[in-house]
Amino acid sequence: MIEQALILVKPDGLSKSLTGNILTRLSETKLEIIAARMVRVTKKLAEEHYQHLKDKPFFPAVIKYLLGEYHDRKKVMAMIYWGEDAIKKCRQLAGATNPEEAEPTSIRGSYGRITTRGVYENVIHVSGNPADAEREIKLWFQPDEIIVDLYPTKDIVLNSVTKKTWA
Ligand code: TYD
Repeated sequence: MIEQALILVKPDGLSKSLTGNILTRLSETKLEIIAARMVRVTKKLAEEHYQHLKDKPFFPAVIKYLLGEYHDRKKVMAMIYWGEDAIKKCRQLAGATNPEEAEPTSIRGSYGRITTRGVYENVIHVSGNPADAEREIKLWFQPDEIIVDLYPTKDIVLNSVTKKTWA
C-alpha cells in the first residue's frame, strides 16, 4: 500500500550531527521525501504530538526532550516519506522505541541512549500507523508544504492577516 510517514529528527539527532547518517539509512527504503522543514517546536505542538502519552509519568520529560530543553537548540527536522509500505519500512530502520532493546544496527540501536533521567533519547520519530501519520502530518505541515496531495483540502480566504515577506 502506498502510504506516508512523518519522520522527525529529534533534538538529540540534530545536536549529535546525525542528520546525514539518518537520511542515508532511510534512503535504503527507496521512498520519496515529499516534504521537509526545520521546526522550532512549541509546547502546544509537542503536547499535541505526544497526546497519547499525556497520562504517563514520563510525559513532562518527553515534552522537554522534543522541545530541545535537554540539548543546545529548540529545533526538530520534520519530513514526510512516501511510497510502498512507508511506515513499516521506516519503523524497521528506526528500531524499537527503547534504544537498549532496538536492534543494534538500527538507527535507534546505533545512536539512541537512555538518559539518567530515564528518557529514551531515541533520535528519530516515525509514525506508527496510517491514522497516526495523518494526525501527525496535519500537525507538522500545511498542505502547500507537501509536494503530493495526501489528504482532502479546502480553500479559505484570509482577511487582515499579517505575514512576513522579504523586505
Ligand atoms: P511511543 O509513542 O510509545 O513510541 P514511538 O516513538 O516508538 O512511536 O513513545 C514516544 C516517545 O516517548 C519515545 O520515542 C520515547 C519516549 N518514551 C520514554 O521516554 N519512555 C518510555 O517508557 C516510552 C514508552 C517512551
